[in-house]
Amino acid sequence: MADLTANLAGIVSPNPFWLASAPPTNTYGQVARAFDNGWGGAVWKTIGQPIVNVYSRYGGLDIGTQRLMGLNNIELITDRPIEDNIKEMRLLKKRYPKHALIASLMVESKREAWHEIVKRTQGETGCDGFELNFGCPHGMSERGMGAAVGQVPEYCAQIVEWVKEVSTIPVIVKLTPNVGDITYPARAAKKGGGDAISLINTINSLIGVDLDRMAPRPHVNGKGSHGGYCGPAVKPIALNMISAITTDPETAMVPISGIGGVSNWRDAAEFIALGCDNVQVCTAVMHYGFRIVEDMIDGLSHWMDEKGYETLSDFKGKAAPSVTKWENLNLNHFMRASIDHEKCVGCELCYIACEDGAHQALKLVQKGGRRLVEVKEDMCVGCNLCSLVCPVPDCISMVHVENGALDVTWKEFSAGKGKLADRPQHYTDIEE
Ligand SMILES: Cc1cc2nc3c(=O)[nH]c(=O)nc-3n(C[C@H](O)[C@H](O)[C@H](O)COP(=O)(O)O)c2cc1C
Repeated sequence: MADLTANLAGIVSPNPFWLASAPPTNTYGQVARAFDNGWGGAVWKTIGQPIVNVYSRYGGLDIGTQRLMGLNNIELITDRPIEDNIKEMRLLKKRYPKHALIASLMVESKREAWHEIVKRTQGETGCDGFELNFGCPHGMSERGMGAAVGQVPEYCAQIVEWVKEVSTIPVIVKLTPNVGDITYPARAAKKGGGDAISLINTINSLIGVDLDRMAPRPHVNGKGSHGGYCGPAVKPIALNMISAITTDPETAMVPISGIGGVSNWRDAAEFIALGCDNVQVCTAVMHYGFRIVEDMIDGLSHWMDEKGYETLSDFKGKAAPSVTKWENLNLNHFMRASIDHEKCVGCELCYIACEDGAHQALKLVQKGGRRLVEVKEDMCVGCNLCSLVCPVPDCISMVHVENGALDVTWKEFSAGKGKLADRPQHYTDIEE
């Protein structure tokens, strides 16, 4: 049976599934229940200076019948008294010594303020590490905290340095995705002495407009504001940012806690395959509750057993070397669509998508009393769209074709070498 023990910069947890700092980690009762259900760690809802929250706070993006593909929030850090948070963390760590408990912190950008909260929290809670919230994109950022820090590498490095002056436990720096190039704040976190990075926090967003009120959703007495976006829809953005950090020679070795749209064991395995040491989950728990972790643990360990991976390190980062720049992709690798007519239900969605939205490489033919879709081999560029819109699993697949159409690299082609002979092409045949 696979060993799921995770280790993030020396913080050990029984498995890689942590709750992200958010409403599910707001109280002792919630985190205790989560640990009883199997979660390996929890990052407590961010503590800091007192704040007041608005009513209401959340907006959802539904796609078809699938609810909460994206979640938007305008909530701030904890609105509970700091004494209560500290007391509950202390009791929790006492009762669950083997689980990872992380204190998430955010205070104004002053050395004394950071020193004070770090000393107090590590002294009074017994937590295993800190997570510095440099990511909250609304409310706090307008007061020079959260994303306002994460967006300026110099501030990021400076505050990490202040924290490291007094911290005796590992410091995780939680980054905002609301930047042009994530490698700059990641490098700054390392430069400041951070022990690990976590990402992503939420993405600037306005989830929608209520057309009856003519106001953004969610609204507060008729007015709305931009918020932070998360949930399954943000996973590709998180994966891309993580791969940018793991493929940057300056940050490649920095331990990473992956966050953003993790909803099941497969998502977690993908984050780990790109180089993460563990994952954090928020929206999926807000949607389905703590028990999803049972399936996550079962799924990940069965898959690891099947693949022969005994520990997380056996596949951590295994997919990272396959991420490269576009210019390094193989121009001589040729693919073509292949349709399994036994599986086809005749909906013709592939035909419409290809005809109107792609490369006009499918045709309708009458055969044996059926109207069938066939591939025009000389026109198919193997783009994949037909298989993406097909509702039947494995009905359309992409097959490798030996062609050797363009026997040069991208750089050589840009320099005028090679030609596009034998490649499917739409040469113009329109009369003047
Ligand atoms: C309602 C809500 C409140 C949040 N509060 C915090 C917070 O206090 N501190 C923090 O670092 N992140 C906070 N987050 C961000 C999450 O920790 C996480 O980074 C983000 O939701 C992405 O993960 P997900 O896609 O699994 O939801 C919050 C997210 C939501 C939805």
